[in-house]
Amino acid sequence: MIETIFDTDPGIDDAMALAFLARRPEFDLRGITTVLGNARIETVTRNALVLRQRFGLAAPVAKGAADTLRGRGDEEALHVHGANGLGDIVLPDGPFEGLDPRPAHHFIIDALRARPGAITLIAVGRLTNLALALRTAPEIVSIARGVVVMGGAFGFSGHTGNVRPHAEANISGDPEAADAVFTAGWPVTIVGLDVTEEVILDAGFLDRLGERGGADGAFLRDISRFYQRFHRERVGIDGIYGHDFLAVAVAMRPDLFETRRGTVRVVCEGAFDGRTVLTEGPGPCTVCIGVDARAILTLYAQTFGVAR
Ligand code: BDR
Ligand code: CA
Repeated sequence: MIETIFDTDPGIDDAMALAFLARRPEFDLRGITTVLGNARIETVTRNALVLRQRFGLAAPVAKGAADTLRGRGDEEALHVHGANGLGDIVLPDGPFEGLDPRPAHHFIIDALRARPGAITLIAVGRLTNLALALRTAPEIVSIARGVVVMGGAFGFSGHTGNVRPHAEANISGDPEAADAVFTAGWPVTIVGLDVTEEVILDAGFLDRLGERGGADGAFLRDISRFYQRFHRERVGIDGIYGHDFLAVAVAMRPDLFETRRGTVRVVCEGAFDGRTVLTEGPGPCTVCIGVDARAILTLYAQTFGVAR
């Protein structure tokens, strides 16, 4: 079993990733930590609690920092994920159970200390919580089993950025945090746009998920309509990029990915602020540069009982 903390900014693709992780027997989900990004911290934390209830999860939710390391807490991606972060569908009111009193980075530190060598951090938002955990307790580098990050773009398959031509949203949103996580020395697997934009859940796939994927599939279909409209109007595809669930997929099926090894740094100033740069060779980072998209989509569909 892969013991996991899922660090997330739900977010439509975050919800699709969490639903996938929750259904996979390979994972033991120990906690959900929230980070600002797709919406402000209050919104994404409410959404994590909604998803916890919706997917029947036992793992607690811990709320992350309200600001990035640069102190930017007021940016949101409302045009991508909707004003409520989940495609503007009507969400339950609460109150919700399962909110841990600790800030996310303390929750992460405590969980890693309680299970040395066991926990893999899967981070699919800005890396603010992980950077704060590293600052507070640098020794966690040697007690985490590893870190998987959805973020960055290395240009291997022509994908170099989404929020800007040279930068991906999760890294661009907190470049200093990402650089700290990539250079800490722990093993980091990075799933960037090079692979996440190669995996497209097209309209037919989403419809089948909605029609045959049970209550969770119907929920995911509902929230994805807003994201689909964004992709149709702003990206020019009739479907949605897989993004966050690829981080879950690589943790359980690394054989479906082609990778390169090395060190990764993040440009933290100037015209290329937020760019990820890989120097190949010995180093703590494994960068995904190719993916068996067909196999990955089949895996996702089958997890919801849907034949592709
Ligand atoms: C990443 O940015 C967020 O909007 C998505 O949830 C994903 O984590 C893609 O660049
Ligand atoms: Ca995300």
